Amino acid sequence: MNRREFIALSSIGAAYLLSGCAQDGATATTGSKALPIPALEKGVMRNGVRHFDLTIKAATHSFFDGIQTTTWGINADYLGSTLLLRKGEEVSINYTNTLPEATTMHGHGMHVPGKMDGTAHQPIAPQTTWSSRFKVMQGACTNWYHPHYLGKTASHVYQGLAGMIIIEDNVSRSLDLPNRYGIDDIPLVLQDRFFSSDKRSLLYDPSRMQVMRGYTGNTFIANGAIEPVFDAEAGLLRMRLLNGSNSTVYTLQFSDSRAFDQIATDNGFLETPVRMNSLTLSPGERAEIVVDLSGDLGSSLALLETRHGKTFLHLRINKEQTTTASLPTSLTALDPIPTPTKTRTFTLGMGGMGNGMQGGGMKFTINGKSMDPKRIDVALSQGDVETWEIINPMMVDHNFHIHGTHFRVVSRNDDPSAVSENEKGYKDTVYIPANERVKIVVAIPNDGITADSANPYMFHCHFLEHEDNGMMGQYTVS
Ligand code: C2O
Ligand code: CU
Ligand code: CU
Repeated sequence: MNRREFIALSSIGAAYLLSGCAQDGATATTGSKALPIPALEKGVMRNGVRHFDLTIKAATHSFFDGIQTTTWGINADYLGSTLLLRKGEEVSINYTNTLPEATTMHGHGMHVPGKMDGTAHQPIAPQTTWSSRFKVMQGACTNWYHPHYLGKTASHVYQGLAGMIIIEDNVSRSLDLPNRYGIDDIPLVLQDRFFSSDKRSLLYDPSRMQVMRGYTGNTFIANGAIEPVFDAEAGLLRMRLLNGSNSTVYTLQFSDSRAFDQIATDNGFLETPVRMNSLTLSPGERAEIVVDLSGDLGSSLALLETRHGKTFLHLRINKEQTTTASLPTSLTALDPIPTPTKTRTFTLGMGGMGNGMQGGGMKFTINGKSMDPKRIDVALSQGDVETWEIINPMMVDHNFHIHGTHFRVVSRNDDPSAVSENEKGYKDTVYIPANERVKIVVAIPNDGITADSANPYMFHCHFLEHEDNGMMGQYTVS
């Protein structure tokens, strides 16, 4: 039995403890819900291919005591299972859509061929199954999957369609980091939502102002629960953080402002842990952090969101430490940033009124153009290395996400020293605050993974209301 298998077994016990069946009456908190931990899905081997069979479905989920809210989920009432992938394996993620309407399912951060990317070009009609089949080519990281249906990504994600993907490799297995899923290695999908007044449905109805500035709900949730409690061991706790919101930038901090270490960014480990007291994530970005709770037995702590004055999670440190995981001083060696041979500029903007999907028909643009699924904006080839400068001349925040590959952030406002330490890893989404510009180096690996004009990759703002209203383009890799 390898370490991960042991972990999977022991997490069954943990799931029981976490499900609110507190065995020790003295530590049970009334009225607070245990942090839901999405099931860890390891797939089933069939003919040398690891299959994940996932059902996208309509459901109800209890956010509020005694109230069932209508939601969507993937093998779950709300959100989806966490998929565990291993570098080098062939996998097939089989999505069966039982919803009354078509959707798609995209692997955000995944380096897969265009036709396996799960964008608008690979719709999943109701009552059909679509499979994303590929070889896991990339190293350990925390990715996620979510719909990418043209014009409906925002509302489909809002209903609950999103899940995490954990990729393991030899590096992640050899590091002595906390890795007991649900015990000292926890996924946290961070979101915010509005509810209808009877709380029986999620309220997705952004005004023009909210489309522009961000559709930020009044209720902040972690893994689909409102201010849940996690019972932690008094040791190191690893948190895999995903900003799974539609369009809210989160700044995270612990209630006592304690320091923690970021160990990984969107697409993998940083070279060394980066010590920090607060962390900002824009929609779609991930960070793995490790916080030391070894001196905290018997006390509690909260994970706060400081831009909006909210609490995402309460940590109750009420278990003795049962491992000796430690924080390595060195995590991995990143590829040197390759030398670009070309520079392109992408200016984010608005194109006035038009056929936008939400918020009264506002149109968002990149280089003056709104998304057209029949238009290819950039044609790249295997091995290409380019500088992309993303310019946000607007008074509102944006970010920029690229499918198919990762990139490196090399400057902010033309200043290389303004790139923070925790951005110096493999990224697929970068935050671009109002009136800022960011330079990234995009490298297309020379490994046969391509995307043709019928199944191109996308690049877009990951503020989903902006994306759905046109701030997206397409590129091919030949
Ligand atoms: Cu997370 Cu194109 O998406
Ligand atoms: Cu993506
Ligand atoms: Cu945007």
